[in-house]
Amino acid sequence: MYTERVAPMTKNKRPMTILVTGGCGFIGSNFVRFMLEAYPQYSIVNLDKLTYAGNLENLEDIEGNPSYQFVKGDICDRSLVGSIVRERKVNAIVNVAAESHVDRSILGPDIFVETNVGGTNVLLDVARECMIERFVQISTDEVYGSLGSTGAFAETTPLHPNSPYAASKASADLLALAYHHTFGLPVVITRCSNNYGPHQFPEKLIPLMIARALENKEVPVYGDGQNVRDWLYVGDHCRAIDLVLHKGKAGNVYNIGGNNEWKNIDIVRLVLKKLDKPESLITFVKDRPGHDRRYAIDASKISRELGWQPSISFDDGIAQTLSWYLAHESWWRRIISGEYQHYYRNMYEER
Ligand code: NAD
Ligand code: DAU
Repeated sequence: MYTERVAPMTKNKRPMTILVTGGCGFIGSNFVRFMLEAYPQYSIVNLDKLTYAGNLENLEDIEGNPSYQFVKGDICDRSLVGSIVRERKVNAIVNVAAESHVDRSILGPDIFVETNVGGTNVLLDVARECMIERFVQISTDEVYGSLGSTGAFAETTPLHPNSPYAASKASADLLALAYHHTFGLPVVITRCSNNYGPHQFPEKLIPLMIARALENKEVPVYGDGQNVRDWLYVGDHCRAIDLVLHKGKAGNVYNIGGNNEWKNIDIVRLVLKKLDKPESLITFVKDRPGHDRRYAIDASKISRELGWQPSISFDDGIAQTLSWYLAHESWWRRIISGEYQHYYRNMYEER
C-alpha cells in the first residue's frame, strides 16, 4: 500500500498531463474544452472509443491545440491504457467514459457491464501500477436509487441502483473505493444529477425534445410525466469536477446537483413554449421499466468543503442550450439521420 505522494493539486501549479476518457461525448467534450481554457499549461489526452455517442465534431474547434491529443481506443484495452499512461507520463485520470443511457441499458445490459465496470477496473489497475496521483471517477446520482416526494441523496445514502446502467455505475464506484481502501489509490468520486447543455446526444430528454419539436414531431413523455429530475448546466458540472480533481480528499465522494427539481412534463412544456411549439405535440407513452420516480441531491458537502455552487440559472442555461441547438442544426440532424433512426424506432415504436 502506498500513501498519497503529493499534496492535493491546486491551480497554477506545475504542468500536468491528464488522461480524460470519453472526451468525445457530452460531458467529456465540455470538460476537455473547459480544462484547456482553465489550465493552458496542462496537457490533456482524450481516450475515446467513439461509440454511437462519441463524436469528433464535439471537439473540432480544439483539434489543433498543441496541449490536446486524441487517442481512439477502448478503456477496456489494458495494454493501450498502460502505454498511454506510461509513455505520456499521465499524472491524473478523469474517467468520464461510459455507456450512459438508461433506456439502452434496459435493451442490452452487457456493454454497460463491460465498459462501466470492466473498463473502470482496467483504468484503476493501470493507475495503481503507475502510481497515478489522482483518479476521478465520474459517477451519478442514479446509484442511490429513487426518492419519494421528500428528502435528498447525501453521500452517506446507501446505494440502491435500480437500472442496469445505475447498477454498473454503482459497481464501478465500489471498485474505485476498494482500490483506495486496499491499495491507497487516491480516488475521488463525483455523483452528479441530470446535466443539460450543448453537445448532448439527442437520446436524452432535453435534446430529444428539442430535436423532435423542431421537426414538428410528437414528443414522447414516459408514464404520467410526473417523475422528477434535478437539472444542472454541464458547465457547472465541469467546474465541480475541476475542484474535486484538484482539491477533493482522496477516498471521498462528492454529490453535485443544481437544486433545481423539475417534473418531466413541466420541462417538456417549457421547451415547447420556448420553441413556440404547441403542447399538442406531447404524447404520453408506455413508461420506462423500473422508472425511478424522483432524484434530488444534497450538494452541501462540495459547497462547504470545496466552495462549489451552481453558477448558471436554469433560465439562462435553457436559453443557452436552445440557442446552441438552433445554431447547430447540422450537428443533431446528422446524428438523427443515421443509425439513430433504427434506435428510435426500436425504442419508441412499440410504446
Ligand atoms: P455520453 O454517452 O454522451 O458520452 C460517453 C462517451 O464515452 C462517448 O464519447 C463514448 O464514445 C465514450 N465511450 C463509451 N464507451 C467507451 C469505452 N469503452 N472506451 C472509451 N470511450 C468510451 O455520456 P455523458 O452523458 O457525457 O456522460 C458521461 C459520464 O457522466 C458517464 O460516466 C455518466 O455516467 C456520467 N453522468 C452523466 C450525467 C448526464 O446527465 N449525462 C449525469 C451524471 C453523471
Ligand atoms: O441523474 C443522472 C443521470 O441522468 C445520468 O447518470 C445518466 O447518464 C443520464 O442519462 C440521465 O439519466 P435519466 O434517465 O434521468 O435521463 P433521461 O434524459 O434519459 O431521462 C430524463 C427523464 O425523462 C426520465 O425520467 C425519463 C424521461 N424521459 C426520457 C426520454 C428519453 C421521457 O419521459 N421521455 C423520453 O423520451
